[in-house]
Amino acid sequence: MTTIYTRDELRNFLEAERAQPWQLGLVPTMGALHEGHLSLVERAVAENDCVIVSIFVNPTQFNNPEDLEKYPQNLEADLDMLKPFLPKVVVFAPAIDEIYAEHVKADNYDLGGLDQVMEGAYREGHFEGVATIVETLLRLTSPNRAYFGEKDYQQLLIIKKLVKDKDLGVTICPCPIVRELNGLAMSSRNTRLSKRLRERSGIIYKTLQSAREQFGTESVTRIVDWVQEVFKKDPDFKLEYFSIADANTLSAIKSKNENHDYRAFIAVYAEDIRLIDNLALN
Ligand code: PAJ
Repeated sequence: MTTIYTRDELRNFLEAERAQPWQLGLVPTMGALHEGHLSLVERAVAENDCVIVSIFVNPTQFNNPEDLEKYPQNLEADLDMLKPFLPKVVVFAPAIDEIYAEHVKADNYDLGGLDQVMEGAYREGHFEGVATIVETLLRLTSPNRAYFGEKDYQQLLIIKKLVKDKDLGVTICPCPIVRELNGLAMSSRNTRLSKRLRERSGIIYKTLQSAREQFGTESVTRIVDWVQEVFKKDPDFKLEYFSIADANTLSAIKSKNENHDYRAFIAVYAEDIRLIDNLALN
């Protein structure tokens, strides 16, 4: 597996490869790869001649130092998981000082309010950190396509806006959420859950599915109250937010309009581990 660690190596690699007509895909990740990440890689491999998978735990998007410290990291295991995608996949695994020159700091962005709700409201500065690393990776690699999961739906919309505003000339390809057998959305953080709680965390997806069913007949307020009740009664979980929002603006709604797409978004703590999920309602 070709593994590139520095900007210079990356530049040399891309210069040599780009000699011929050629399509490049980028799959940005923070490592601790699982089937969710691999679904992005699989699609990227099918659609491009070469795929760069970046593995970089980006410090500027962590608002909680403990979450950053405990974030699982195992490059060897990640490289093993990518082996089935050889020879098309190349890994870019830079050290922090390859990405951030002097200050490990996010840039400022106007993300049009998409960053003010849900994840943005509870994780201050998170999306400026995400925008900083994604813009850096897109500028370093200039891919034809970049792949992002709907698991982080808010992130996906923010990256689409970033690419449009900065005219980065890459097609953003959204990929569906991959789930564990019990419905829990796959996440690198799931490995930190106890076996019992990992099993019980299927309740998050079940609640979203039930909210989707109720969306046909019940008012938004009633559904929101019902979800809050579900988690109030369950000592294993602490609900941070549940929101029914317009799928394009992410504004929370009180009532539905015709011809709009809506999604339910949820963030829940299981022990001290924060889990997020979302589901299209119509
Ligand atoms: P990370 O959490 O490692 O996720 C990398 C990509 O995999 C993201 O696009 C994410 O949405 C997608 N992904 C994660 N779990 C998924 C699942 N269960 N199903 C489908 N896709 C899934 O998201 C990040 O890293 C970072 O914010 C990053 C974009 C790399 C910037 O640092």
